[in-house]
Amino acid sequence: MTTSSSIIIPADEDARIAAVRRYEILDTPRDGAFDRVTELAARLFKVPISIVSIVDEDRIWFKSRHGIEVEQVGRDPGLCASAILHDRSLVVADASVDPSVLANPLVAGEFGLRFYAGAPLTTWDGHSLGTVCVIDKEPREFSDGDVATLEQLAAIVVHELELRLVTRRVVESERQTRALEAARRGLEAAEHERTRWARELHDETLQSLGALHMLLVSGLARPDELDQTVSEAANFVQDEIVKLRHLIAELRPAILDQAGLEAALASLARKLSVVDGLDVALHLETAHVTSSLSANAEGTLYRAVQEALANVAKHATAHNVEVTVRARGRTVEAIVSDDGIGFDASLNTDGFGLLGMRERAVLAGGTLEVRTAPGAGTTVRFVMPLDAADPSQNLQGPSSP
Ligand SMILES: Nc1ncnc2c1ncn2[C@@H]1O[C@H](COP(=O)(O)OP(=O)(O)OP(=O)(O)O)[C@@H](O)[C@H]1O
Ligand SMILES: [Mg+2]
Repeated sequence: MTTSSSIIIPADEDARIAAVRRYEILDTPRDGAFDRVTELAARLFKVPISIVSIVDEDRIWFKSRHGIEVEQVGRDPGLCASAILHDRSLVVADASVDPSVLANPLVAGEFGLRFYAGAPLTTWDGHSLGTVCVIDKEPREFSDGDVATLEQLAAIVVHELELRLVTRRVVESERQTRALEAARRGLEAAEHERTRWARELHDETLQSLGALHMLLVSGLARPDELDQTVSEAANFVQDEIVKLRHLIAELRPAILDQAGLEAALASLARKLSVVDGLDVALHLETAHVTSSLSANAEGTLYRAVQEALANVAKHATAHNVEVTVRARGRTVEAIVSDDGIGFDASLNTDGFGLLGMRERAVLAGGTLEVRTAPGAGTTVRFVMPLDAADPSQNLQGPSSP
C-alpha cells in the first residue's frame, strides 16, 4: 500500500480530520476502556502487538498500545494510514512477499514487521478515524472469521468514542440550559427590582411632592399666612430629602465606601433596633474578611445581611436577632438568626429577596442555607469564598424593610 514516502490522503480528508477533532481523543491520557481492547486483541489473536490508532493530519497517534513503547509514528510509513483508505480491513499476512508493503520502512527496516491486520474505526457518518490493528514479526494466517472479530473490536472502540461524545454534549447542553435559566432569573429579578423602585418612588416621593404641591397651592389662597406656609414647605422638603437619601442609600450603600463593612453592618443593625424595636446582637470579626474581599464582594455580603435583616423586620415578628460575620478558613460566613415566627421554606413565595440572595451566593461561588420552621425562628447562613470571583453582576438590590 504505502510504497512511496508521500502520505496517501483519503478523498474525504478534510471532513475526516474534522471528525477526528470532533471526538477530542487526540493526546488524551491512557484509558482503561481502550487498553482492554488492545489487550483482548493481542490475547485473541496471539500476537505480540496490538494498537488502537488515530490517524491525524501528519502522524498516527496511538490511543492504546499493547506490546510497543512508541506513542506515535509519522503518517508517512503508516500501515494504519493505508488501512483507513478502505472500508474493509487491511490484512498483510506476510509482508516479505507482499510487493505493496515491501518498501515500507517498518517492513524493510529494523522493526521487521511481517504481519499486519487493521480494521478501520468507521464513524456513523462514514469517516475512518484510525484502526484497531494487530502486528507480528512473524507471518500469519488471518481468516475471514478473524477479520470479522477484529472489525467487532473496532466497532466497540467507535461505540465508546460516540458514547463519550454524546455524554460531553449532554453535559454541555445542561450547562447551557443552567446558564440560560440563571440569565432568565437575573432578568426577572432585575425587572422585579425596577418595579419595586417604581412603586417606592410612586408611593413615597410622588405622594410627597403631591402633598407639597397642595400645601403651596393652599398657601396661595392665604397670602397673610405666607411665612407659615413657606416654613412648613421648607420642613416638608427637608424631611423628603432625608427619606430620598435613605432610598438612594439602599440602591447604593455609600456607607460601605465611606466607613467600611463593619460600620455599614453596624448601621444596618442600629436601624433595626431603633426603627423596628428589635434587640440586636452583633458579632463582627471582619478585619481579616475586609482585607481579603474585593469592594464588590463586600457589597454582596452587605446586601445579603441587609436582605436577611429586612426579612426579619418585615416578616419575623421577632424580639431578638443575632448577626454574625466572620472568616471560616478560606470562606466568610454571614449568619442572621431571629427568634420570630419562622416559615415553611418549602412553599413558593412571590418574593425575590431569598432568591436574589441565593443567586448572589452562587455567583460568588458560595452557598445560602435557610434553617427555619413555623414557630421556630429563622437562621439564614450566607457563605462565600474569601477570594471570591468578583460577583460584580449583582442581580438585585435589597428589599425595603
Ligand atoms: N426571618 C423570617 N421570618 C419569617 N418569615 C420569613 C423570614 N424571612 C423570609 N420569610 C418568609 O419567606 C418569604 C420569602 O422571603 P423573600 O425575602 O424571598 O421575599 P419577600 O421578603 O416576601 O419579598 P421581597 O424580598 O422580594 O421584597 C417571605 O414572604 C416570608 O414569608
Ligand atoms: Mg425579602
